[in-house]
Order: sequence, then C-alpha cells, then structure tokens
Amino acid sequence: MLQAINLSHSFEYPLFSEVNLDIKAGSTTAIVGASGSGKSTILHILSTLLKPKSGEVIFGGKNLYSLKDDELLKIRRQDFGIIFQAHYLFRGFSAGENIELASILSGQKIDKNILERLGIAGLMTQKASELSGGQQQRISIARVLAKRPKIIFADEPTGNLDSHTAADVMSVLCQYTKEQSSALVLVTHDERLAGQMDAQFRLENEKLNQIRG
Ligand SMILES: Nc1ncnc2c1ncn2[C@@H]1O[C@H](COP(=O)(O)OP(=O)(O)OP(=O)(O)O)[C@@H](O)[C@H]1O
Ligand SMILES: [Mg+2]
Repeated sequence: MLQAINLSHSFEYPLFSEVNLDIKAGSTTAIVGASGSGKSTILHILSTLLKPKSGEVIFGGKNLYSLKDDELLKIRRQDFGIIFQAHYLFRGFSAGENIELASILSGQKIDKNILERLGIAGLMTQKASELSGGQQQRISIARVLAKRPKIIFADEPTGNLDSHTAADVMSVLCQYTKEQSSALVLVTHDERLAGQMDAQFRLENEKLNQIRG
C-alpha cells in the first residue's frame, strides 16, 4: 500500500539513512526510538508533508515527491489521515461541526458508533475551544476517521490521555484499520502499545531496524 525506499534525511546533521518500509493493507506498524532520533520526521516524509533528502515514497504506484502539488494535496486530503499531537481544530466551531466539516470534504459519513467508543458522542454541541486537551485530541481523531483514510499516520495519538481512554482510542484505530483494510503507522514512546501492533521498528543509530513482525 505504501513503500519507503532508501529514505535519508538531515537537518543540521544527518538524522537517518537507508530507511525502508513496506506498509501492507490491513496492517498496524509501530515506530519507536529515542526523543530526537527522527521519528516524527519519518512520519512527515511518509505522509506528504516533507520531501526527504533522498529516497522515494511510493503510493498508488507513484513516488509522492514526483507528483505535482495539486496531486499531492489530493492524496493528503482524501487518502491519508494524519493525527499529530498538535491537532488543529477550528476553535470557533463546535466539536460536531469540526467532524462534519471533514465528512463534507470527503463525502463520507462518520460512523456514530465511533463517536460513542471514543467517548465524545456527548460533546458534539460544545465549542472546540471549551474542551479539554484530551477531548480535543479525540475529536481530532474522529475527524480524521470521518474522511475514511486509506492510511492513518499517528504521532503519539494518545499522549494526552489517561491509560483507560488511551486503550479505547487505540482499539478504535486498530479496529478501523482491520475493518477498512486501511493501514496504521504509529509513532510512540510506549513500548507496551508498540507491542500490540503487527510490526515494530526502532529508529536508532540513524537506521530503522525491524524488531518484530
Ligand atoms: N524543521 C526542522 N528544522 C530543523 N531541525 C529539525 C526540524 N524538525 C526536526 N528537527 C530536528 O531533527 C531531530 C529529530 O526531530 P524529530 O521531531 O523527528 O524527533 P522525534 O524522534 O520525533 O523526537 P520526539 O520523540 O521527541 O518527538 C531533532 O534534533 C530536531 O531538532
Ligand atoms: Mg516526535
């Protein structure tokens, strides 16, 4: 579904090189590694947001970074679901309006069941600016799922949540992945959570090593 071939990237100094990944439909993949090792950078590269110094990201038979800007934007909008820690809800809108907006843009309907399971069904009329950090995070996850993405990229999606709510959110994401034959690429510091994914990689010494799956 998504392939990374020989990716390398550097900012002031080299971050990583020879990164290869093969993400299959219906699979969940975790990337772990020390703070500052470049995990978020890899996720940005995989998800259209950052062009690597070298290497290719193949989606739909094409290298993302050889596409025209409008083609890349279309993939980002329609096919990819990007869940980052800084989630940008429209603050003046209600929680429900934020989710509806994503539904309208993609022409897909949000599954009410998902709102229940994320524990946010009762928050729909509340203003986004008046929700707690963890509530906002769950609304933004529902908003991503409302697009019915083919691949979800999630960077510490449960970082702001208590362990019980975090487990609920992860089970929603994993179930979505299996039911829709989508794929989930998860960056996390939580080894236990990483252990629940089908495959696990560790970014260390500038290389991405597969440690399981
Ligand atoms: N836009 C940028 N410009 C310059 N340097 C950057 C940029 N983005 C990240 N870096 C640097 O690249 C390194 C890797 O950053 P990255 O955010 O990928 O790490 P990470 O593994 O996600 O860390 P964490 O676990 O703390 O989130 C860091 O040293 C960071 O300062
Ligand atoms: Mg990071």
